[in-house]
Amino acid sequence: VTVTVELGDESYVISVGERLLERTDELLPEGTWSKAAVVTDSNVGPLYAARVENSLRRRGVEVHACTVEAGEASKSPGVARDLLERLAALDFARTDLVAALGGGVVGDLAGFVASVYMRGVDVLQIPTTLMSQVDSAIGGKTGVNLEAGKNLVGTFHQPVAVIADTGSLRTLPGREYRSGLAEVAKYSFLRPEVFGGDPGMTDDFPASAATGVEADAVARCAAVKAQVVSIDERDATGARAALNYGHTLGHALESATGYRGEYSHGEAVAIGMVFAAAVSERMGLCDRGMPGRHASRLGSLGLPVAPGSGAPDFDALLGAMRRDKKRRSGLTMVLLEGEGKPVIRGDLDPVLLRGCYSRIAEGV
Ligand SMILES: NC(=O)c1ccc[n+]([C@@H]2O[C@H](COP(=O)([O-])OP(=O)(O)OC[C@H]3O[C@@H](n4cnc5c(N)ncnc54)[C@H](O)[C@@H]3O)[C@@H](O)[C@H]2O)c1
Ligand SMILES: [Zn+2]
Repeated sequence: VTVTVELGDESYVISVGERLLERTDELLPEGTWSKAAVVTDSNVGPLYAARVENSLRRRGVEVHACTVEAGEASKSPGVARDLLERLAALDFARTDLVAALGGGVVGDLAGFVASVYMRGVDVLQIPTTLMSQVDSAIGGKTGVNLEAGKNLVGTFHQPVAVIADTGSLRTLPGREYRSGLAEVAKYSFLRPEVFGGDPGMTDDFPASAATGVEADAVARCAAVKAQVVSIDERDATGARAALNYGHTLGHALESATGYRGEYSHGEAVAIGMVFAAAVSERMGLCDRGMPGRHASRLGSLGLPVAPGSGAPDFDALLGAMRRDKKRRSGLTMVLLEGEGKPVIRGDLDPVLLRGCYSRIAEGV
């Protein structure tokens, strides 16, 4: 299955399906690259790098492997710098290619490196997590973290193509798979018609990735992201901002717990979406059943729907929400006037938010 991200001259194709890694050579667009750096991590490399490397060699490309430690800590300026030095040592030129093979960490890091090396070389995204196949590999946002916060340094750099091999998801740890399912559920709340309405989406994705995820299901999600990116490539008009649904509280939960892993990104976003639904309801934007419908869908995917007993208190979260990189005026959130109808609201009342947080903590 293929999905196109329509961006004029910068348009590119997302290929989704089984056994695509070994067909990287065919799925790459026209072009001649003399060298390729395959950036991957210590978990993904041993499983999948050889397929990609062998395939690239069939295109006559000289291949160099660059493996970073698995984990968010590799999304750092230091690791980016090491990779840049490596490219320079390999005598990489403007006409060479960086291939990012792995999850969002590798995609963001390698995309960033590709965007700044000699003011930009081509990057090929080969996402291997559900999160990266439906979200991070599409749209050209790249970046690394600073001590002061996540994704504070970055660029926009669209890939030349995205190759999403759904077969690679079978080795994904369960918690990582469920984290991706939270983004899938997000698309289903923002664009229910794409998933055949309620409860369509839950039938599309198996309880565990080990069962095998259909390419069609992943492609539907990729198409939602691709369309939003086409409309609002640079996050300027608000269309792309709607993808931040559930992320205001989600990011606050991650940041207030120091990204120690109490909540995976998807778990934090799942709780954040129930919170956003509760806020929408409290403000009279949607019907009273929506928070409960959110909770039952997310719960059925194995995701948490309430912050839990050890959660940070609301004041800590409020502080983190106020510091949110994407804030506009005052406390801003994406809310829903019902499923499928996102709106962005600023200057939200902290007292109302506190009440909604207590409410979801007790169960909606
Ligand atoms: N650029 C964007 O638009 C965007 C959007 C959303 C998220 N992100 C970023 O993405 C990152 C998170 O990405 P992620 O959730 O993919 O995490 P990740 O890249 O850390 O991958 C999760 C874990 O799974 C392992 N793994 C990856 N693929 C595997 C496979 N097929 N089999 C077995 N193990 C595998 C990895 O080694 C890692 O340990 C965050 O840094 C986030 O900021 C970026
Ligand atoms: Zn997210």
